[in-house]
Amino acid sequence: MVKISKITINYQEQPLGITKIEQAGWVILSDHSNVIQKSYHIQLSKDHEFRTLIYDTGVVFSDQSAHISIENIEYESLTEYFLRIKITTEDGEESNWEVSKCVTAFLSTKEWKGNFITAESVQDVDKSKGTYLRKQFEIKGKVKKAYLCSTALGLYHVFLNGKKLEQDEFAPGWTSYKKHLLYQIYDVSELIEDVNVIGAMLGAGWFKGTMGFTRKRNHYGDYSAFLCQITLIYEDNRSEIIVTDGSWDAADSPVLFSEIYDGEYYDAKKEILNWCNKECTYLEWKRASTVNWGYEYLIPQSGCKVCEIDQINVKSVMITPKGEIVLDFGQNLTGWVEFTVVGKKNERVELQCFEVLDSNGNVYIENLRSAKQKVTYLCKGEGEEKYHPFFSYQGFRYVHIMEYPGEILEKNFNAYTVHSNMSVTGDFECSNVLINQLQHNILWGMKSNFLDIPMDCPQRDERLGWTGDAQIFSRTASFLMDTYLFYRKWLVDLAADQIAEGGVPHVIPDIISGKSDGDEMLEQGTHSAAAWADAAIIIPWTMYLVYGDKEILRQQYQSMKNWIDFMKKHSKNNIWNYKLQFGDWVALDAQPGSFYGATPNDLTCTAFYAQSTYLFVKILKVLEKENEALEYLNLYQNIKNTYQETFFDKEGHIISNTQTANILSLYFNLVPTDKISMVTKDLVELLDKENGHLVTGFVGTPYFCHVLSENGQTKKAYDLILQETYPSWLYQIKQGATTIWEHWDGIKEDGTMWNPDMNSFNHYAYGAVGDWLYRNVAGIDTSEENPGYKHIIIKPHIGELNYVRASYNSIYGSIKSSWIRNDDYIILSVSIPCNTYATVYFTDAKTVSSEEKIECMPTEDGYKADILSGDYTFSYQV
Ligand code: BGC
Repeated sequence: MVKISKITINYQEQPLGITKIEQAGWVILSDHSNVIQKSYHIQLSKDHEFRTLIYDTGVVFSDQSAHISIENIEYESLTEYFLRIKITTEDGEESNWEVSKCVTAFLSTKEWKGNFITAESVQDVDKSKGTYLRKQFEIKGKVKKAYLCSTALGLYHVFLNGKKLEQDEFAPGWTSYKKHLLYQIYDVSELIEDVNVIGAMLGAGWFKGTMGFTRKRNHYGDYSAFLCQITLIYEDNRSEIIVTDGSWDAADSPVLFSEIYDGEYYDAKKEILNWCNKECTYLEWKRASTVNWGYEYLIPQSGCKVCEIDQINVKSVMITPKGEIVLDFGQNLTGWVEFTVVGKKNERVELQCFEVLDSNGNVYIENLRSAKQKVTYLCKGEGEEKYHPFFSYQGFRYVHIMEYPGEILEKNFNAYTVHSNMSVTGDFECSNVLINQLQHNILWGMKSNFLDIPMDCPQRDERLGWTGDAQIFSRTASFLMDTYLFYRKWLVDLAADQIAEGGVPHVIPDIISGKSDGDEMLEQGTHSAAAWADAAIIIPWTMYLVYGDKEILRQQYQSMKNWIDFMKKHSKNNIWNYKLQFGDWVALDAQPGSFYGATPNDLTCTAFYAQSTYLFVKILKVLEKENEALEYLNLYQNIKNTYQETFFDKEGHIISNTQTANILSLYFNLVPTDKISMVTKDLVELLDKENGHLVTGFVGTPYFCHVLSENGQTKKAYDLILQETYPSWLYQIKQGATTIWEHWDGIKEDGTMWNPDMNSFNHYAYGAVGDWLYRNVAGIDTSEENPGYKHIIIKPHIGELNYVRASYNSIYGSIKSSWIRNDDYIILSVSIPCNTYATVYFTDAKTVSSEEKIECMPTEDGYKADILSGDYTFSYQV
């Protein structure tokens, strides 16, 4: 039996708030093997019974089950559309119709009729306080459907008749607000009563609060503001809108202060009883004022909203040697603590969140730099009170309880993680418990830093969308979770914030350009660093590989081209280098006291210039821009020739013989073919010189294991990842890390810390080694020719582990690869989803047999087999 198990519309299930069906896709399930779709049939209707069709593909003979665009439909705003799909398979089976639905957003920004309104006044420009806005309205008939569209300058929570709408946190998210502002849509049909009150709580957030390590505020404007439009559709098809305007009630909220870095100060006594209900009797509401802000950049948010995700209980309550009362949640995370308290009026709860204890076991907050991460709550004194911050999040494992009325009971405190809600797609487990903890830390580094934008870290006065960190981790992230909508949204801001000449800012959204005074490093330049700015090319390309999605390449085409042209313009004879470069950031081969590793900038920059140009050529071919592809291929060849002439000596060794210089040259195919084994040997010698330890930074580390296993040094790659002494991934695990550290020596062997100026214990960058675990150890990859895992490559590199078990939930369904090793005897189990095909490689195999009697062909270094969907078990001898 064949069936469609999941339909996605623009990468979401049943999305609310799209402007068209850009891409539909589905997952096929069957109890047979070898299932290939023969045809599909799609229909679209405004009624659930499909009585009137507005689109009908008829039977289309094609095996395409992803990225199907539905063209030439005249969509209407705020309208429900039903989509149904039926397929047949090559072996003659037919599925039932499977139905999904979506709701459109405003199709034109002209549909916005209200004004942005604020409860703040000119005295509040430099404040980060919270406010209330509300409006009471009555309906004029029986309501069939009601949608609420809203956004804010700042952060907001929206309520209807006392109920918060959905679980959204940190709405409307962080974008380059002046060029790209997201709005949210809620179906409120079920909440509408005869008399209604709509309310919003506003906070400063990224919009006007203090952000950036030069601690500037008001990056986008001076007033927090709210924009809202409720559309009521009556049974008789009349419609009515309620919009934000000067008639709305306004007041200060109990949030006296709230900022991203410093935390929140909440005075519960200032809560207005029933503020968002018709029962409210408060008489001192002021009138809201309007704020000038256009609608032209308003775009509906496409999924991936920030939410509370996991609840974590207190693991222990401790008293430090200094006498501080500390809660330990046992896990470094990003989110907040929710507590309950019974206190008298004005009694306080005061907490400070932090990541690690110092070597004496006391509270350590120096690495937060100027970020306070403090939460203060004043009780109203009316029994049990419950609270967590509204507009601030903290990065922490520990909480210092500075004040709390009454006994501190574990049950009164819970931590919650808060991050972009992406579905979990990847899983990896093996026989080594330390590697399993590393996998856990990689995942938690991701959970901690994907809070609407890809952040560098969640605790100190930074939390910015550093492009390099995002680029390095993007492939690993895209195995662990469905990142498509997350990165696609962020890439819009990357393109929006690119300088006119094409340079790419170091952080996106860019709040540092023009505001770097006082920062010695950034005064040298705020855009266009190698490996950082290359996020402009590498992330769209990664999305193409993982999802087979050409749309994101089309969206980013101009941005990518501008970036390559920027490098070209500023290169001299094909050597690219420019103002502030981060080099092999925080590599251990740096000069004492320096952050920049020993690999020269000319080499790092030119290697990335070559690689990005090379990827751009491939992208141009995908986009069928053949002439341009030739032009950039020519550029690439020139860069590559110059690279080889400049950075290699006569014998073919790399002149600046660092680990990273060898790694980049190998990974980016910049080594002449006949010198690859020699350069690999040079790299291995450098590794041996360090007794099997890496000394690489952000740039070399992600590719280290890859270049070893791809160049016949699988054993060395395993030794490297299994290394337990400093510096190594497992060293931090043995030191008790629960997320990935920024520095190999965040906590040194003697228990002292690396410089507090820059010592995050929750930086996902070095977690990029996950990509090697998934693609090379478990061996789950996609072919580049047929990406998105339509053609799956299973190619495990077997090493010093007894077993490995991994799965990845692709757009076509679940892929699994597991192996068990018994000396030189391997059992490999593989699952391949319907409507895909796979090539399985048995590297170094002498003979291969399979329960399913699959034919295996010899290769240069083993065997391979081509298979279709189903479950398979192979055994082989190495
Ligand atoms: C950030 C990094 C970032 C770097 C750039 C740091 O302060 O935390 O992760 O990539 O600056 O040099």
